[in-house]
Amino acid sequence: MELHFFVYPAIILLPPLIFAIIHSKRSGSERLPPGPLGWPVFGHMFNLGGTPHRAIAELEQKYGPVVWLKLGSINTMALLKAKPASEFFKNHDLSFADRTIVETMTAHGYNYGSLALAPYGSRWRVLRRICTVEMFVSKRISETEGIRRKCVDDMLSWIEKDGNGNAIPVGRYAFLASFNMLGNLMMSRDLVDPESEKGLEFYDAMKKVMEWSARPNVSDLFPWIRWIDLQGLKRRANRDMGTAMGIVSGFVKERIQQRKNGEWKEKDFLDVLLESESCKVESEKLTETEIIIFILEIFLAGTETTSTSIEWAMSELLRNPETMAKLKDEISSVVGLGERFLESHIDNLPYLQAVIKETLRLHPPLPFLLPRRAIQDTNFMGYCVPKNTQVFVNVWAIGRDQEYWEDAVCFKPERFLGTNVDYKGQSFELIPFGAGRRMCAGLALGHRMIHFVLGSLVHEFEWELESSVTPDAVDMSERMGITVGKLKPLKAVPRKHARECDIK
Ligand code: HEM
Repeated sequence: MELHFFVYPAIILLPPLIFAIIHSKRSGSERLPPGPLGWPVFGHMFNLGGTPHRAIAELEQKYGPVVWLKLGSINTMALLKAKPASEFFKNHDLSFADRTIVETMTAHGYNYGSLALAPYGSRWRVLRRICTVEMFVSKRISETEGIRRKCVDDMLSWIEKDGNGNAIPVGRYAFLASFNMLGNLMMSRDLVDPESEKGLEFYDAMKKVMEWSARPNVSDLFPWIRWIDLQGLKRRANRDMGTAMGIVSGFVKERIQQRKNGEWKEKDFLDVLLESESCKVESEKLTETEIIIFILEIFLAGTETTSTSIEWAMSELLRNPETMAKLKDEISSVVGLGERFLESHIDNLPYLQAVIKETLRLHPPLPFLLPRRAIQDTNFMGYCVPKNTQVFVNVWAIGRDQEYWEDAVCFKPERFLGTNVDYKGQSFELIPFGAGRRMCAGLALGHRMIHFVLGSLVHEFEWELESSVTPDAVDMSERMGITVGKLKPLKAVPRKHARECDIK
């Protein structure tokens, strides 16, 4: 977290904090996990720097794999290696099944309808079932392949048009494609189409909501001063969340009307949502607001996570030309030169799968997962962890755990060939989608999207770095946002392959 975000709030807070210091006392700390000494009241909030997952990972050397921190007034436990993560998910998943909720996500009561932020319980179960049993299951995902095909084709033609010998920001195209895919899958709408005024307004509002919720917010560290909204982030989140919700509300109402009038013949995920058994049972019925929040959540959870992964993968491929060549060879031999890359090819492309696993090992988009929260006081590995403690499972550090990974910092997709290490929540050394009850609900869809987009990008174009950049000079610095993305967006020049039919 950037220091300057906190300087002004810290000055304003000083008088009440001095009072709090005088009245504060440490209690029961001897049974907590070890950790560095922090400032009174502020705790370790100034120690985290711009990339907290890195700063916290470094503590492992001195304090071991389970570390205790105080972020403002928030008790925090960080897990830095695969072994405690395995213990956490295998034996304590239920005790830590709640979430930390950041203040911006309470705008317009978003957190009350959200699956990702719901407290563990019956409401969460209903929303989760819709996601994992009714929507993002293989059969339904396969039925909607045509939608993703169209969005990938759109992306490829934008790249062809804008590239044309110029370096383009690869991540931006991946983001537009992800956003467009989710818009079409959820509501059969091209939200990034310049003709769709409402779509673009929605796109802008959602980008802003993502920006406000990614900013470090002093209200999250000192909940007792939330009401002041010192940085104005809640106010801005309220404004933009309100805009996004208003637009989606219009889309949902329009669909309900079209369905009533028999004018709607297609079937997308909004129809699944409106027809869901869970929506028909009166006691569990989703309100219109919950349906709207559900839709927003899919965008918040599914766009940046997939597009940053694709950008990191392309960056790794461009700084490792041998890996890029090997991947291209695999894809060409399975798909065929001049043929379209299809989702059905993915299962026959072990090297592509390995490239994506390796990317997510080194660059997990959510390096702390979505932070969990203790439902009750819990004895974890001999430590007494108080109720409401937030937990950072540092999957970035776990992906570099030398007990599991040889040459841990090197990008070597080959390490996965012939192994059954996967990111489906069973191999605790590789958990970019989390594990346990609250593991990513969109894994199956995210998996398809990343493979399909990356495979198509690599298959359709020859990629070159800008002339001033050599492979070993690709900037891999990170930027902390809603996900960890690239500080300097990757720019590369696409050159279209001639298709066989064009050659003939
Ligand atoms: C590269 C792509 C993605 C990554 C790396 C990712 C990662 C994650 C992670 C780490 C969590 C928290 C897991 C935990 O606490 O154990 C999560 C939760 C979630 N993800 Fe994803 N995700 C991705 C794509 C998607 C997509 C495409 C969707 C939906 C279309 C989605 C929907 C969700 C939802 C709804 C939750 C909350 C689940 C719950 O709390 O029960 N994600 N994701």
